[in-house]
Amino acid sequence: MRLFIVGAVLVFVMVFSVQARAECDMERTFTKKCSMCHGKAGVGTSMAPALSGTEFIRSDAELIKETFLNGRSKKAKKYKKFVTPMPKYNFTDEEADCLVEYLKGL
Ligand code: HEC
Repeated sequence: MRLFIVGAVLVFVMVFSVQARAECDMERTFTKKCSMCHGKAGVGTSMAPALSGTEFIRSDAELIKETFLNGRSKKAKKYKKFVTPMPKYNFTDEEADCLVEYLKGL
């Protein structure tokens, strides 16, 4: 009986972790929420900088998360040539991790 419970818990954990990884697909989120400014596959537009393979995207994950969780407007802005502010978004910790992973893979 005990073995059965341990087995059931193991199976549950395995199924759950596979599902969590499958949900870590940020392509749709990026297309829906980011690409109108950052371009398809993050190549950049006249509205916003490129994200694909840039030095910033290769840097620290926490810095990247801060950008989309807090946004960048007025004094927080880094680029003068893009007049648009970077909006702030509500993502869970897990979604934010997934999004960073996605951006690093662009
Ligand atoms: C309304 C247009 C707009 C949208 C939508 C947008 N961004 Fe941005 N984003 C910007 C602008 C403009 C900047 C540059 C801000 C600055 O001057 O520092 C920026 C900067 C960034 C940066 C920092 C780049 C760097 O080199 O410092 C990251 C990372 C980023 N955006 C990610 C995202 C993600 C992820 C999404 C979608 C969830 C998103 N952005 C949606 C306009 C946008």
